[in-house]
Amino acid sequence: MKLWGGRFTKPTNELVDEYTASIFFDKKLAKYDIQGSLAHVAMLKECEIIPAEDADLIAEGLKKVAAKIESGVAELSAENEDIHMNVEKLLIEEIGPVGGKLHTGRSRNDQVALDMRLYLREALVDLMDLLVKLQESLTNQAKQNLDTVMPGYTHLQRAQPVLFGHHMMAYAFMFQRDIERLIDSYKRVNKSPLGAGALAGTTFPIDRMYVAERLGFDGICENSLDAVSDRDFVVEFLANASLVSTHLSRLCEEIVQWSSAEFNFIELDDAFSTGSSMMPQKKNPDVAELVRGKTGRVYGHLIGMLTTLKGLPLAYNKDMQEDKEGMFDTVETLKGALALFAPMMETMEVKKESMYNAVRQDFSNATDLADYLVEKGMPFRESHAVVGQAVLYCINHNKYLLDMSLEEFQTFSNLVEEDIFAKLTPETVVNARNVAGGTAKNRVEEQIDTITNLLNDSKLWITNQVQILNNIS
Ligand code: ARG
Repeated sequence: MKLWGGRFTKPTNELVDEYTASIFFDKKLAKYDIQGSLAHVAMLKECEIIPAEDADLIAEGLKKVAAKIESGVAELSAENEDIHMNVEKLLIEEIGPVGGKLHTGRSRNDQVALDMRLYLREALVDLMDLLVKLQESLTNQAKQNLDTVMPGYTHLQRAQPVLFGHHMMAYAFMFQRDIERLIDSYKRVNKSPLGAGALAGTTFPIDRMYVAERLGFDGICENSLDAVSDRDFVVEFLANASLVSTHLSRLCEEIVQWSSAEFNFIELDDAFSTGSSMMPQKKNPDVAELVRGKTGRVYGHLIGMLTTLKGLPLAYNKDMQEDKEGMFDTVETLKGALALFAPMMETMEVKKESMYNAVRQDFSNATDLADYLVEKGMPFRESHAVVGQAVLYCINHNKYLLDMSLEEFQTFSNLVEEDIFAKLTPETVVNARNVAGGTAKNRVEEQIDTITNLLNDSKLWITNQVQILNNIS
């Protein structure tokens, strides 16, 4: 007999059970479902909606059910559709009909919205922790590469040299914004929908704040229809996760390029590389490629969730059961990628010589020659053209700017003097960009200090939140 079987005269078609059940995936919510139920039953007791001894029995029973689900001895079935009804069935099996009092003043609609929020809170904290670790490994690489000059690119053409540390810090700041977005979104997740009932609230004299406080929420969802209908917190998470994936994927692309023989800028540690079954010489950046590849599924889940929601009338609709798999998969996908990325970045070998040689064999100091002429009084537009001619001359004579003699320089402009040679070395070129946020060594050190402070703020936030989550009984 179904928990809702009263008004039915026939058993459900088996295919309907299979098709409509969510237990195959929402069993992931078991822990949170029981956490929510424990808070709910404590409130029912506190508000004297059910007798204290019944509430105590239910709480004990729920803990036993939790242990049975965790150890895998509890049987979860599609016939009981979802985690909520499976838990209730198991509870009634455990303590008898009194277990049926648990659902007083509650609906699966507010219950599932609650479970999703409880799950996502923990997932967000875990993801932030992993993002912080990745920022730390990027910052460590930056610290070790404050003298490593590499070509900087625009249009994937060599543009101006930068410090490799500067390049690493660019990603550290992207992940910083990702963490800030997750922290900001947290306050919208951290509200309790319980008490919204099916859609309109409940006739019982419940205390929504009591439940919210017990579960470590900041407050309650203010409108019952909104509380059970919206999944914007899921969409927001998927959007934020998409940006994390975008940032990771761009870094992946660079790692793939840098580790090719054509670039030869880095070598991944053997422990983070894979081989080929046929070509014995191969060492492939599979992790970076797969993380890049998995970006597709994260974006897909975002579009999927938005599409599922877009035409739904208020309040709950069964369509919304589709909110779970994409969210779970996104959490797992990001956790997997981030857990690998931090040690992969930390252990990668940076080929400083090779980067330096690349810079010596390009025209990425051309802007500096133009700026030099400007300092000597030439209008920039004019110096741009003069240096363009010098570059063309070098290309035709198979040399770079620093290979020219002073006399050769002076054929382009007699403003050039002996000091030009020191001006055009990669080190001078990099350190000349001594503007806030620039690539000069001391400016990169400033960035490292900034990120280190921000990292400490994030860690403090995470520790506080973990403490709140751990205190939930
Ligand atoms: N399994 C459902 C879901 O995940 C739980 C809520 C069902 N509510 C309902 N009235 N059918 O969305």
